[in-house]
Amino acid sequence: MFETQRLRARSWTLDDAEQAHVMYGDPEVVRHIGGDLRESVDATRELLALILERTPTLPAGMGSFPLALRETGEIVGAALIKPLPDDDGKRTEDIEIGWHLARCHWGNGYATEAGRALLEKGFIELDLPILHAVVEEPNAASHVVARRLGMNDEGMTDAYYGSVLRHYVLHRSDWQARSARETDL
Ligand SMILES: CC(C)(COP(=O)(O)OP(=O)(O)OC[C@H]1O[C@@H](n2cnc3c(N)ncnc32)[C@H](O)[C@@H]1OP(=O)(O)O)[C@@H](O)C(=O)NCCC(=O)NCCS
Repeated sequence: MFETQRLRARSWTLDDAEQAHVMYGDPEVVRHIGGDLRESVDATRELLALILERTPTLPAGMGSFPLALRETGEIVGAALIKPLPDDDGKRTEDIEIGWHLARCHWGNGYATEAGRALLEKGFIELDLPILHAVVEEPNAASHVVARRLGMNDEGMTDAYYGSVLRHYVLHRSDWQARSARETDL
């Protein structure tokens, strides 16, 4: 799927349920990602089954991917790239990137590292001209990640998920110009 210095993104399998439950069974992780808290490993396994069932219905190359440490294989979080849903849950043309980590892995820069790889995947591999991210206003850490990725704050929007969210946007041309500047340094 993609690799970074420390992380490998791959497809979910049902065998990941126990590790995934560290995230989806933690209210501190799920409260800003719009999902329900999973009360048991079995409930998390059902969530993974749903993700696996939905993935082939997404545009090619998109989905939600576990982030495993390259060194140990431990799952530390998940990255996603997929169409943003409108108020009714219908997929829009706007493609979002997103991230969440198990709480014990916060503060290590993994979300930013995965986010940079998502930008590259979206702009280069999937040939998308624009990428979006939406963040709940109180989610301070995620705002930091979006800004650190160079995404532009477009203000609040109610266009997606039936919620009022802060909307970040990055155009490929701006991303490429910035990458070129960084290479020159
Ligand atoms: C969002 C998330 C992935 C960020 O993980 P992370 O990169 O490990 O985040 P960090 O804990 O390093 O925080 C990122 C930055 O935000 C800052 N930050 C964290 N919490 C903060 C707070 N409450 N107020 C202000 N700044 C905060 C950190 O200091 C850090 O900046 P620094 O590197 O300059 O110190 C993680 O918090 C998470 O999984 N949250 C639950 C799921 C979620 O909300 N996903 C995003 C949905 S949009």
